[in-house]
Amino acid sequence: MGDVNFVPGLAGVVAAKSAIGFINGQEGILRYRGIRIEALAEKSTFEETVYLLLFGALPTAAELKAFDAELRAVRAVPDGIIDILRSLPDGGHPMVALQAAVAALGTFYPQMDVTDRDGNRAAALRLIASMPTIVAAFDRVRKGEDVIAPDDDLSHAANFVYMLTGERPDDQVSRLVDVCLVLHAEHGFNASTFTGRVVGSTLANPYSAIAGAVGSLSGPLHGGANERVLHMLRAHFTDIEKVGEVLGGMIDRKEKIMGLGHRVYKVKDPRATILQKMAADLFESHGSTPLYDIARTLEEEAAKRLGAKGIYPNVDFYSGLVYEKLGIEVDLFTPLFAISRVAGWSAHWLEQLEDNRIYRPTQMYTGETDAEYVDIADR
Ligand code: ACO
Repeated sequence: MGDVNFVPGLAGVVAAKSAIGFINGQEGILRYRGIRIEALAEKSTFEETVYLLLFGALPTAAELKAFDAELRAVRAVPDGIIDILRSLPDGGHPMVALQAAVAALGTFYPQMDVTDRDGNRAAALRLIASMPTIVAAFDRVRKGEDVIAPDDDLSHAANFVYMLTGERPDDQVSRLVDVCLVLHAEHGFNASTFTGRVVGSTLANPYSAIAGAVGSLSGPLHGGANERVLHMLRAHFTDIEKVGEVLGGMIDRKEKIMGLGHRVYKVKDPRATILQKMAADLFESHGSTPLYDIARTLEEEAAKRLGAKGIYPNVDFYSGLVYEKLGIEVDLFTPLFAISRVAGWSAHWLEQLEDNRIYRPTQMYTGETDAEYVDIADR
């Protein structure tokens, strides 16, 4: 078998060079293209952040205006995609519907030549612009409501809320959703981004690469954690006086506390800090909920019991509370993550193709080495 260096979960293994997202997990630092996430959350918009991630630098005002217009022009999806969404069971998870619809987009825009840079750029923009349309359409279809076409006068964030609810959101809600999109847009070599890059490295079409990434994000150990945080709080933490006791029981039983812990961050995730502040402002202006107070207590208790292991809130811990307060359905939390992260996935896909080599790791074989074929009559 020779010398093999087996690293479970590929923890710490360098799989590629990348100039997109920088993370320092010991100090809780996240930068997109060198710019601190705190500055982007405060000053940027999702559209500008997408430009930064895809093209490596902040746009000028004229560049941003033109880019924004390009995005708005490709928000609508073909009728056939809506037909596919209508044909899916109402009870199916929206992440699965999103994955199916994104893959199906590849049949409407067949692009076989991924060395065509203009074609790649167009595909990335179409994916980023149209994924919110798919998520909103599936939610309305499953509720028996009419699908709402995109409104070109609205920003990316405001248009998503409009297509979902039928109402144009006020500035506070638009800004909140916009900041959430900025915060989730990129995070280095996480599982879904790696998935997208692996699929992309085979020179598969971009819709297949992003559909793969959507599937990867849907799992509870990754993006799917945000909805599970809410389920967990509702199911287990109903009494604020008993938060410490319940938490202790879960830790003793070796159960994972959703929204806590991170492969890279060993301090509090900087995105969780920003989201916590946003949640605090929202709950102060619109009234608190017992769940928010319980979440704060859980964070304090968890710091006492798990802090020494470097387990602190991650981005998912507070995002669900914000979305719930905005009236967004729990099973749309992860799709909301996906419509943001598609920016990072697309940037990584483009970067992968610039200097591509197919991913093909190896394994440590642990099976039989010399088994005999036994005829079926003799088994
Ligand atoms: N609750 C309780 N204990 C935890 C938690 C948690 N959330 N996370 C890690 N631990 C403990 C483990 O039990 C383990 O303890 P041990 O050494 O005594 O056995 C130790 O910390 C290491 O845990 P691993 O699972 O090996 O850490 P890994 O880096 O593989 O996993 C992960 C990271 C998946 C994020 C993990 O912390 C987890 O499952 N968290 C809950 C799910 C979650 O919130 N996921 C969202 C992550 S952020 C994102 O994807 C956007």
